[in-house]
Amino acid sequence: MQVIILNSASQVAVHAALRVKSLIDEKPDSVLGLATGSTPIALYKQLVNLYRKGELSFAQVKSFNLDEYFDIAPDNPQSYRYFMTKNLFKHIDIDHNNTYLPTCFIGQNPRVEAAAFEKNIQLAGGVDLQILGLGANGHIGFNEPTSSLGSRTRVKSLTPQTIKDNSRLFEQGEYQPDMAMTMGIATILDSRNLLLMATGLNKAKAVKQMITGPLSAMCPASALQMHRDAVVLLDREAASEL
Ligand code: GLP
Repeated sequence: MQVIILNSASQVAVHAALRVKSLIDEKPDSVLGLATGSTPIALYKQLVNLYRKGELSFAQVKSFNLDEYFDIAPDNPQSYRYFMTKNLFKHIDIDHNNTYLPTCFIGQNPRVEAAAFEKNIQLAGGVDLQILGLGANGHIGFNEPTSSLGSRTRVKSLTPQTIKDNSRLFEQGEYQPDMAMTMGIATILDSRNLLLMATGLNKAKAVKQMITGPLSAMCPASALQMHRDAVVLLDREAASEL
Protein backbone atom coordinates (compact mmCIF):
# COMPACT_ATOMS: atom_id res chain seq x y z
CA MET A 1 0.00 0.00 0.00
CA GLN A 2 1.42 3.34 -1.05
CA VAL A 3 0.25 6.21 1.17
CA ILE A 4 0.47 9.75 -0.23
CA ILE A 5 -0.31 12.69 2.06
CA LEU A 6 -1.21 15.96 0.36
CA ASN A 7 -1.94 19.37 1.83
CA SER A 8 -5.60 19.66 0.92
CA ALA A 9 -8.66 17.84 -0.36
CA SER A 10 -8.39 19.70 -3.66
CA GLN A 11 -4.83 18.45 -4.14
CA VAL A 12 -6.11 14.92 -3.52
CA ALA A 13 -8.66 15.39 -6.32
CA VAL A 14 -6.08 16.82 -8.75
CA HIS A 15 -3.63 14.01 -8.01
CA ALA A 16 -6.33 11.34 -8.42
CA ALA A 17 -7.49 12.87 -11.72
CA LEU A 18 -3.93 12.76 -13.10
CA ARG A 19 -3.73 9.07 -12.24
CA VAL A 20 -7.02 8.40 -14.03
CA LYS A 21 -5.80 10.44 -17.01
CA SER A 22 -2.50 8.60 -17.28
CA LEU A 23 -4.35 5.27 -17.19
CA ILE A 24 -6.73 6.32 -20.00
CA ASP A 25 -3.86 7.87 -22.01
CA GLU A 26 -2.12 4.51 -21.88
CA LYS A 27 -5.26 2.42 -22.39
CA PRO A 28 -8.17 4.37 -23.96
CA ASP A 29 -10.56 1.45 -23.42
CA SER A 30 -9.85 1.27 -19.69
CA VAL A 31 -12.35 -0.19 -17.28
CA LEU A 32 -12.89 2.19 -14.38
CA GLY A 33 -14.37 1.29 -11.03
CA LEU A 34 -16.26 4.31 -9.72
CA ALA A 35 -17.44 5.42 -6.31
CA THR A 36 -20.07 7.75 -4.92
CA GLY A 37 -20.13 9.83 -1.72
CA SER A 38 -18.94 13.40 -1.30
CA THR A 39 -15.20 12.64 -1.56
CA PRO A 40 -15.03 11.73 -5.28
CA ILE A 41 -17.12 14.73 -6.40
CA ALA A 42 -13.99 16.92 -6.64
CA LEU A 43 -12.25 14.21 -8.67
CA TYR A 44 -15.19 14.04 -11.09
CA LYS A 45 -15.02 17.85 -11.48
CA GLN A 46 -11.35 17.54 -12.43
CA LEU A 47 -12.13 14.78 -14.95
CA VAL A 48 -14.92 16.88 -16.50
CA ASN A 49 -12.47 19.83 -16.79
CA LEU A 50 -9.87 17.63 -18.50
CA TYR A 51 -12.56 16.36 -20.90
CA ARG A 52 -13.74 19.91 -21.69
CA LYS A 53 -10.16 20.99 -22.41
CA GLY A 54 -9.92 18.10 -24.90
CA GLU A 55 -7.25 16.39 -22.81
CA LEU A 56 -9.24 13.27 -21.97
CA SER A 57 -11.83 11.11 -23.72
CA PHE A 58 -14.03 8.46 -22.18
CA ALA A 59 -15.45 7.30 -25.53
CA GLN A 60 -14.02 3.81 -25.13
CA VAL A 61 -14.13 3.60 -21.34
CA LYS A 62 -16.40 1.21 -19.45
CA SER A 63 -17.33 1.87 -15.84
CA PHE A 64 -18.57 -0.22 -12.94
CA ASN A 65 -19.81 1.47 -9.80
CA LEU A 66 -19.14 -0.02 -6.41
CA ASP A 67 -22.68 0.08 -5.09
CA GLU A 68 -26.29 1.16 -5.47
CA TYR A 69 -29.19 1.35 -3.05
CA PHE A 70 -31.58 -1.60 -3.14
CA ASP A 71 -34.85 -1.07 -5.00
CA ILE A 72 -34.27 2.56 -5.96
CA ALA A 73 -35.37 3.94 -9.33
CA PRO A 74 -32.55 5.34 -11.50
CA ASP A 75 -34.35 8.68 -11.78
CA ASN A 76 -34.66 9.00 -7.99
CA PRO A 77 -32.27 11.86 -7.08
CA GLN A 78 -30.99 9.73 -4.17
CA SER A 79 -29.93 6.86 -6.44
CA TYR A 80 -26.26 6.44 -7.21
CA ARG A 81 -27.16 6.23 -10.92
CA TYR A 82 -28.59 9.74 -10.63
CA PHE A 83 -25.49 10.90 -8.72
CA MET A 84 -23.14 9.53 -11.39
CA THR A 85 -25.16 11.06 -14.23
CA LYS A 86 -25.29 14.43 -12.47
CA ASN A 87 -21.65 14.57 -11.38
CA LEU A 88 -19.90 12.83 -14.27
CA PHE A 89 -21.66 10.87 -17.02
CA LYS A 90 -23.76 13.66 -18.53
CA HIS A 91 -20.72 15.96 -18.81
CA ILE A 92 -18.39 13.56 -20.64
CA ASP A 93 -18.40 11.41 -23.79
CA ILE A 94 -18.82 8.04 -22.08
CA ASP A 95 -21.33 5.71 -23.78
CA HIS A 96 -24.10 5.34 -21.20
CA ASN A 97 -24.54 1.71 -22.24
CA ASN A 98 -21.02 1.15 -20.95
CA THR A 99 -21.82 2.38 -17.44
CA TYR A 100 -22.86 -0.29 -14.96
CA LEU A 101 -24.19 -0.10 -11.42
CA PRO A 102 -25.09 -3.12 -9.26
CA THR A 103 -28.86 -2.74 -9.24
CA CYS A 104 -31.44 -4.94 -7.60
CA PHE A 105 -35.17 -4.33 -7.30
CA ILE A 106 -37.92 -5.99 -5.31
CA GLY A 107 -39.07 -9.03 -7.27
CA GLN A 108 -35.60 -9.70 -8.67
CA ASN A 109 -33.36 -12.44 -7.37
CA PRO A 110 -30.37 -10.70 -5.70
CA ARG A 111 -28.08 -13.66 -6.39
CA VAL A 112 -28.91 -13.61 -10.10
CA GLU A 113 -28.46 -9.83 -10.34
CA ALA A 114 -25.17 -9.95 -8.42
CA ALA A 115 -23.83 -12.77 -10.58
CA ALA A 116 -24.81 -10.85 -13.75
CA PHE A 117 -22.95 -7.75 -12.50
CA GLU A 118 -19.81 -9.78 -11.74
CA LYS A 119 -20.09 -11.49 -15.13
CA ASN A 120 -20.20 -8.10 -16.86
CA ILE A 121 -17.00 -7.07 -15.07
CA GLN A 122 -15.35 -10.25 -16.31
CA LEU A 123 -16.62 -9.76 -19.86
CA ALA A 124 -15.14 -6.24 -19.81
CA GLY A 125 -11.76 -7.79 -18.91
CA GLY A 126 -11.77 -6.81 -15.23
CA VAL A 127 -11.43 -3.41 -13.59
CA ASP A 128 -8.18 -1.55 -14.33
CA LEU A 129 -8.52 1.08 -11.62
CA GLN A 130 -11.02 1.11 -8.78
CA ILE A 131 -11.72 4.47 -7.14
CA LEU A 132 -12.67 4.14 -3.47
CA GLY A 133 -13.89 6.42 -0.73
CA LEU A 134 -13.80 5.43 2.92
CA GLY A 135 -16.64 5.21 5.40
CA ALA A 136 -16.04 6.67 8.86
CA ASN A 137 -16.41 3.09 10.18
CA GLY A 138 -13.84 1.78 7.70
CA HIS A 139 -16.32 0.57 5.08
CA ILE A 140 -15.49 0.46 1.38
CA GLY A 141 -18.37 0.39 -1.07
CA PHE A 142 -21.11 -0.74 1.28
CA ASN A 143 -18.99 -3.48 2.82
CA GLU A 144 -19.72 -2.72 6.42
CA PRO A 145 -17.59 -3.95 9.36
CA THR A 146 -17.82 -7.77 9.68
CA SER A 147 -18.16 -8.14 5.89
CA SER A 148 -16.21 -11.18 4.79
CA LEU A 149 -12.87 -10.32 3.25
CA GLY A 150 -13.75 -12.95 0.62
CA SER A 151 -17.15 -11.42 -0.16
CA ARG A 152 -18.43 -10.81 -3.68
CA THR A 153 -21.27 -8.64 -5.00
CA ARG A 154 -24.38 -9.03 -2.86
CA VAL A 155 -27.13 -7.18 -1.05
CA LYS A 156 -26.08 -5.81 2.36
CA SER A 157 -27.94 -4.14 5.20
CA LEU A 158 -26.40 -0.81 6.16
CA THR A 159 -25.24 -0.20 9.72
CA PRO A 160 -26.92 2.43 11.89
CA GLN A 161 -23.72 4.53 11.72
CA THR A 162 -23.66 4.53 7.91
CA ILE A 163 -27.36 5.37 7.76
CA LYS A 164 -26.68 8.23 10.19
CA ASP A 165 -23.56 9.41 8.28
CA ASN A 166 -25.50 9.47 5.00
CA SER A 167 -28.66 10.99 6.48
CA ARG A 168 -27.19 14.47 5.83
CA LEU A 169 -27.90 13.82 2.16
CA PHE A 170 -31.63 13.22 2.72
CA GLU A 171 -34.38 15.70 3.49
CA GLN A 172 -36.17 15.31 6.79
CA GLY A 173 -38.92 12.70 6.34
CA GLU A 174 -37.51 11.56 2.97
CA TYR A 175 -37.26 7.77 2.56
CA GLN A 176 -33.67 6.65 3.18
CA PRO A 177 -32.84 3.13 1.97
CA ASP A 178 -31.24 0.80 4.55
CA MET A 179 -30.02 -1.82 2.08
CA ALA A 180 -27.73 -1.71 -0.92
CA MET A 181 -26.12 -3.98 -3.46
CA THR A 182 -22.35 -3.64 -3.30
CA MET A 183 -19.27 -5.15 -4.86
CA GLY A 184 -17.73 -7.48 -2.29
CA ILE A 185 -14.29 -7.00 -0.79
CA ALA A 186 -12.88 -9.79 -2.97
CA THR A 187 -14.51 -8.17 -6.03
CA ILE A 188 -12.75 -4.90 -5.15
CA LEU A 189 -9.42 -6.66 -4.58
CA ASP A 190 -9.68 -8.20 -8.08
CA SER A 191 -9.17 -4.75 -9.59
CA ARG A 192 -5.66 -4.33 -11.03
CA ASN A 193 -5.16 -0.99 -9.23
CA LEU A 194 -6.92 0.59 -6.27
CA LEU A 195 -7.07 4.29 -5.52
CA LEU A 196 -8.63 5.21 -2.18
CA MET A 197 -9.23 8.84 -1.30
CA ALA A 198 -9.96 10.02 2.23
CA THR A 199 -10.19 13.63 3.35
CA GLY A 200 -11.24 15.40 6.52
CA LEU A 201 -10.86 14.81 10.25
CA ASN A 202 -13.87 12.49 10.48
CA LYS A 203 -11.93 9.90 8.45
CA ALA A 204 -8.74 10.02 10.55
CA LYS A 205 -9.66 7.09 12.83
CA ALA A 206 -10.70 4.83 9.94
CA VAL A 207 -7.53 5.82 8.02
CA LYS A 208 -5.40 4.81 11.00
CA GLN A 209 -7.16 1.45 11.31
CA MET A 210 -6.92 0.83 7.57
CA ILE A 211 -3.18 1.52 7.37
CA THR A 212 -1.72 0.62 10.75
CA GLY A 213 -4.36 -1.68 12.20
CA PRO A 214 -4.55 -5.44 11.80
CA LEU A 215 -6.10 -6.97 8.70
CA SER A 216 -9.62 -7.40 9.97
CA ALA A 217 -13.20 -7.67 8.79
CA MET A 218 -13.94 -5.06 11.50
CA CYS A 219 -12.21 -2.55 9.22
CA PRO A 220 -13.08 -3.62 5.66
CA ALA A 221 -10.62 -1.08 4.19
CA SER A 222 -7.75 -2.92 5.91
CA ALA A 223 -8.15 -5.45 3.07
CA LEU A 224 -6.20 -2.96 0.93
CA GLN A 225 -3.11 -4.09 2.84
CA MET A 226 -3.31 -7.33 0.81
CA HIS A 227 -3.37 -5.60 -2.60
CA ARG A 228 -0.18 -5.20 -4.63
CA ASP A 229 -1.14 -1.90 -6.26
CA ALA A 230 -3.18 0.06 -3.75
CA VAL A 231 -2.62 3.81 -3.47
CA VAL A 232 -4.14 5.79 -0.60
CA LEU A 233 -4.47 9.55 -1.10
CA LEU A 234 -5.00 11.56 2.07
CA ASP A 235 -5.22 15.19 3.03
CA ARG A 236 -3.46 16.35 6.22
CA GLU A 237 -6.63 16.04 8.32
CA ALA A 238 -7.38 12.46 7.30
CA ALA A 239 -3.71 11.59 7.96
CA SER A 240 -3.65 13.31 11.37
CA GLU A 241 -3.78 10.12 13.45
CA LEU A 242 -1.03 8.29 11.57
C1 GLP B 1 -21.05 5.78 1.19
C2 GLP B 1 -20.56 4.99 -0.03
C3 GLP B 1 -19.08 4.72 0.03
C4 GLP B 1 -18.34 6.01 0.40
C5 GLP B 1 -18.76 6.46 1.78
C6 GLP B 1 -18.04 7.71 2.26
O1 GLP B 1 -21.50 4.99 2.22
N1 GLP B 1 -21.26 3.76 -0.23
O2 GLP B 1 -18.64 4.21 -1.21
O3 GLP B 1 -16.96 5.79 0.35
O4 GLP B 1 -20.15 6.73 1.74
O5 GLP B 1 -18.68 8.82 1.74
P1 GLP B 1 -18.13 10.31 1.83
O6 GLP B 1 -17.12 10.42 0.73
O7 GLP B 1 -19.36 11.15 1.54
O8 GLP B 1 -17.59 10.51 3.17
